[in-house]
Amino acid sequence: IEYLFADKILAGIRVLVTAGPTVEPIDPVRFISNRSSGKMGAAIARKALEMGADVDVVAGPVTADLSGLKVTSVQTATEMLNAVKDKLGNSDILIMAAAVADYRPADYSDIKIKKTADDMNIRLEKNPDILINIAPLKKDMQVFTGFAAESNDVRENALKKLEAKKLDFIVANDISRQDIGFETEDNEVSMFFSDGTAVDSGKLPKSGVAEIILEKAYDIFRKKNG
Ligand code: CTP
Ligand code: CA
Repeated sequence: IEYLFADKILAGIRVLVTAGPTVEPIDPVRFISNRSSGKMGAAIARKALEMGADVDVVAGPVTADLSGLKVTSVQTATEMLNAVKDKLGNSDILIMAAAVADYRPADYSDIKIKKTADDMNIRLEKNPDILINIAPLKKDMQVFTGFAAESNDVRENALKKLEAKKLDFIVANDISRQDIGFETEDNEVSMFFSDGTAVDSGKLPKSGVAEIILEKAYDIFRKKNG
């Protein structure tokens, strides 16, 4: 009987996953956003459920299938920050897989902007960094991880984010590779841990990558919680 439950290693553990892009409106019909299907976040959420966890998803507008998952839908980075803050107290493991828009239009026009001008500028202002904002709220028993999307100097950039965002580990994606990431089915990531170690996933379906990430998060959770 025991083997039936052997893979439910996340039973009783509460996992919060963010997924997809955020969208930052310019006017009622236009927005700026980030490329993200939400597939990686969805794969993590689904795998966590399979592994027995209580799963909460905070998602921007994704094309990925989130059916059967407990989802809080948001649009903007600010809304995502508030939703994450809301759920964080009831979470053991946070996985920030969302591609949060770094900037938003400084002004929103509540009427549609007409194309009268020959050129136009949209002034952008920085969005809050969700991980940096919630770092002070982190409890010792919690495990926080995020992603680093890098086109170059993957290791250096990922390590900087690991430190700046006070994560237990960071999952780095090399976005210069066309065969993985974004809308594709497969992914290959490097994980960098706060103890200085690193692990490569190898190229796998996103569900396989999700499983490795969740196993690593679980290992750290176990260490922290005896
Ligand atoms: N992130 C966040 N809040 C933001 C932007 C990003 O919490 N406003 C999170 C992402 O969800 C991801 C991690 O931070 O888990 C790294 O995101 P990434 O875009 O790679 O890094 P940035 O810190 O935004 O830096 P840059 O885009 O300049 O590389
Ligand atoms: Ca960014």
